Amino acid sequence: MSNNIDLVVFGARGDLARRKLFPALYQLDRAGLLSDSTRIAGVAREAIDSAAFIQQIESLLKDTPEIGEWDEKVWAKFSRRLHYIKIDFSQKKEFAVLNQWIVNRRTVIYYLATPPSLFGPICKHLNDADCVDKTSRIVLEKPIGHDLESSEQVNGDVGKYFSERNIYRIDHYLGKETVQNLLALRFANRMINSQWDNSCIDHVQITAAETVGIEGRWTYYDKVGQLRDMVQNHLLQLLCMVAMEPPSSLQADEIRGEKVKLLRALRPIDEDRVEEYAVRGQYSAGWISGSPVVGYMQEEGCESDSSNNETYVALKVHIDNWRWAGVPFYLRTGKRMQDKVTQVVIVYKDNPHSLFPETDGEANNKLVIRLQPNEGIQLEMVSKKQSLKERLSTEKRTLNLDFFDSSGDSRIADAYERLLLEVMKGDQWLFVSRDEIDASWRWCDRLLASWRGKKIPTKSYSAGSWGPSKAEILIENDGRSWYEE
Ligand code: BG6
Repeated sequence: MSNNIDLVVFGARGDLARRKLFPALYQLDRAGLLSDSTRIAGVAREAIDSAAFIQQIESLLKDTPEIGEWDEKVWAKFSRRLHYIKIDFSQKKEFAVLNQWIVNRRTVIYYLATPPSLFGPICKHLNDADCVDKTSRIVLEKPIGHDLESSEQVNGDVGKYFSERNIYRIDHYLGKETVQNLLALRFANRMINSQWDNSCIDHVQITAAETVGIEGRWTYYDKVGQLRDMVQNHLLQLLCMVAMEPPSSLQADEIRGEKVKLLRALRPIDEDRVEEYAVRGQYSAGWISGSPVVGYMQEEGCESDSSNNETYVALKVHIDNWRWAGVPFYLRTGKRMQDKVTQVVIVYKDNPHSLFPETDGEANNKLVIRLQPNEGIQLEMVSKKQSLKERLSTEKRTLNLDFFDSSGDSRIADAYERLLLEVMKGDQWLFVSRDEIDASWRWCDRLLASWRGKKIPTKSYSAGSWGPSKAEILIENDGRSWYEE
């Protein structure tokens, strides 16, 4: 629990604040993880007073299924922390009211749940209104820019007023309990750690599939696409957690330093190999869980006759370092796919010589790390079939480890609870450094340029499928296939 911390949420009436931030803060309070003195201010441009704001938060929380049973005592405590401050973010002079709210010698955290175009102006106005000192922290939501150049601009604008030590860039995947568990799995288990390289591993698959479409964000999403929306941040962060070298400690600088090295070791996908290494897809109409869904071009908000924007990406990625030379990482992510699943599959090499012909082709051990849903690990192994008649025939069996631990916390905390807690503690280990952002944009920009250069069109896939057939070919060309249960 951190003392003397106040939190100011810009965009307090927006979607993110309502769906994630206020429920997460309430849960932290319920768990006794907010210090008694912590105050929370919601900032937005609507002219309402604190009492109305508090009432809105109350109904919001009561309507949030994850909150579960309503606890009047927790609410009484939480509601006392809440304030509302009306500011039009574009009006410098309006920031003076915030200055009056701030109390000397308390650390203020500014959470910008606003469009990124406002990051620079808000920081400037905060500074001009004397709301920033060397202890103030700022939290930024993705997307940080649209490419390397624009992200440098955003980081530069924010960096004029906040030092890198005080900037917390969110990638909510890092707040997921199971993503953090990758560190424990890899670095607390000698058995796994000692076999985590090209001598034992054949290839790795990382899948982040969603059943949702673009959720009413057509105009935004059509300028962004799945590479920028999911790969540049979440998938590359997962890749880092899976493939980075062991940090020398769990300090933020050590972990982030290893991630940067990994991102810089990604082999660029240039024009001459882009068709072999990358697939773009766009969903057409189809069925998900027995219900019909429209295609991307029929989504609400679509005003174009055609779009070459991708809603699906599959990639073959190489990491040019000693550990991973020769081990491809296959990444795929898409909207409107058959199931919602995020998982990492480690496929081990086959034995050098097979004694058990009947398991040929199936013998590779696989470690399946399910990040969501049904969080857990499965290890596919081969064992002897229980049989008197057969001498020594084998079969595939699975060892299961459920991440959900009934003896630990009785629920898996939402990513934003963890992230807000870490910002309040002042620990950056789950936040993305400027160097990481630069390196991941540099790599993605190169791929986007290759797609543009070669004028690669999107391949159509039916909603409710696992993506375009080209993505199957991408992996099958290497004699491998996507892992599907
Ligand atoms: C967001 C993307 O960052 O992550 C969304 O902008 C995507 O398009 C979402 O749906 C997926 O997050 P999660 O936690 O549901 O896997």
